[in-house]
Amino acid sequence: MNKFKKIDFGEEFHWGVSAAAFQTEGACYKDGKGQSIWDEFTTRKGKILNGETALTACDFYHRYQEDIDIVKQLNIPNFRFSISWTRILPEGTGEVNQAGIDYYNKVIDYCLQQGVEPWLTLYHWDLPYALELKGGWTNREVVNWFGEFVNICADSFGDRVKYWMVMNEPSVFTGAGYFLGIHAPGRTGLKNFIPAIHHAVLAMATGGRILKQKLLDAEIGTTFSCSHIEPHTQRHKDIAAAKRADALINRLFIEPILGLGYPDNVPALKKIKNYFQAGDEEAIKFDFDFIGLQNYTREIVQYSFFTPYIGARLVKAKDRNVPLTDMGWEVHPPSIYYIIKKYSAYSNIKKILITENGAAFPDKIEQNEVDDPKRLAYIHDMLEQVLKAKNEGCNVQGYFVWTLTDNFEWAEGYHPRFGLVHVDFDTLKRTIKNSGHWYRELLGEQ
Ligand code: NOJ
Repeated sequence: MNKFKKIDFGEEFHWGVSAAAFQTEGACYKDGKGQSIWDEFTTRKGKILNGETALTACDFYHRYQEDIDIVKQLNIPNFRFSISWTRILPEGTGEVNQAGIDYYNKVIDYCLQQGVEPWLTLYHWDLPYALELKGGWTNREVVNWFGEFVNICADSFGDRVKYWMVMNEPSVFTGAGYFLGIHAPGRTGLKNFIPAIHHAVLAMATGGRILKQKLLDAEIGTTFSCSHIEPHTQRHKDIAAAKRADALINRLFIEPILGLGYPDNVPALKKIKNYFQAGDEEAIKFDFDFIGLQNYTREIVQYSFFTPYIGARLVKAKDRNVPLTDMGWEVHPPSIYYIIKKYSAYSNIKKILITENGAAFPDKIEQNEVDDPKRLAYIHDMLEQVLKAKNEGCNVQGYFVWTLTDNFEWAEGYHPRFGLVHVDFDTLKRTIKNSGHWYRELLGEQ
């Protein structure tokens, strides 16, 4: 029995589901598409669990109609997906691949025909490999390369697409991709991480400005990953460590965009000033129409002498005797409430949307059915917390489940299943899970 109704969230609330190009499309080299850093990274030994690739993924490239039909069937009014940069610009810059533009036009038009509103993300981690060879996010030129891509997308799709998100989770693609090396392009160290941060912020603000200038009626946002953070104990050292982790995990990208500059309590971040050029203080700001928050869990942080640069470590959820998802993340619904409260405290965020939230659990098909009570409860309990924040006056205006179909979960491959819809990766057959049916009933309420 649900503890809320759809209408409790208000008439204007945006209900949706999110996905991303590289995780779903497959067809990695089809119709002129160029290679992205993820196409390349997935060929490297030992980088992806079980050596899996996304060459076919969910085959959304060919099955987009079937999947958009499912979105409609589930009564989901908004579908967020991303544009693959290398379908549009195979080398990242220069020659445009018309077949790529035609493809996304078909996807957008099909959404609109079905009464599903398309929400576009412009950068969901799949940088053109040709640009990575020139330094990728560490090369300041990336701001111009990205601007070129944003311009083409605005010109090609802006007549029909109202909702735009410039970037997806910059802290993850810079942190995992340029510091830890566990995501594409697999680079490590501060010398890569620090410039990548600054260039990602500049590109995000630049992308926002381009869209704003070209698309007068569009709503322009960007999305951030965020986790509610608590210190392991009330000892001074743990509290200070939690603050440093909070700066890296939650504040690093939103604060420069809001005009507050980079957080100054993490010594390693001070080097970012070395990458500033004249005018950057202004250039890193942009007034987005909405901020997309993507929250899955909370983190407990402990002081650690042995962790370089940050002096803090996460106390793993599996060592804390708490309920876990298949990602090893703690199930902790109040996190999303605290996160909404935290970001609502920034005076110049106009509007918050939850652009991703969801959970991976092991699912089994039995007699053509997937019973997934844990996912259903997770989404229900998270929504209850979103509503609590909203009722306390936070301007939270949307909720998008991650994700529509089970898909390629980056370095984890196909093992974690996040979908409302099960995919059999041998046959590509789709089966709506019980959580999907539950969401359909919730959104079908009049
Ligand atoms: C964040 C990312 O945007 C998405 O690509 C990923 O699959 C989910 N979180 C789950 O990890």
